[in-house]
Amino acid sequence: MALYSEKVMDHFRNPRNVGIIEDADGVGEVGNAKCGDIMKMYLKIENDIIKDVKFETFGCGSAIASSSMATELIKGKPISEALTLTNKAVAEALDGLPAYKMHCSVLAEEAIKKALKDYYEKNNIEYDKTLFESVDVCCHK
Ligand code: FES
Repeated sequence: MALYSEKVMDHFRNPRNVGIIEDADGVGEVGNAKCGDIMKMYLKIENDIIKDVKFETFGCGSAIASSSMATELIKGKPISEALTLTNKAVAEALDGLPAYKMHCSVLAEEAIKKALKDYYEKNNIEYDKTLFESVDVCCHK
């Protein structure tokens, strides 16, 4: 069996939503302390809906495929749904990742959460801090 699914290879070779949003409403950057890879998410939000999302990932193929799939999964969705997106769901949508590459998908979940936190803070919106505990302990700003 191939190490990577066709979906992983497709999203790695043709990543969706790559780039930056200049006037983003929320930006989140996270890094993986072990490998040093970095992922940055930009969100455009209107009426609690993620109208647009773009990412920049300086990392491995699994991290690129995970960010690409994660952006597809949250685009056009309400914030509440984006907040519940787990790295497991991202990996499942990619038809799986090798066990030792699962940590790469965590970057996607955390970058989205961090961007949403940034959105809440910039707009002085009250939010449930317990939802963001994982990104608060992260190694990058
Ligand atoms: Fe660093 Fe995949 S090896 S994110």
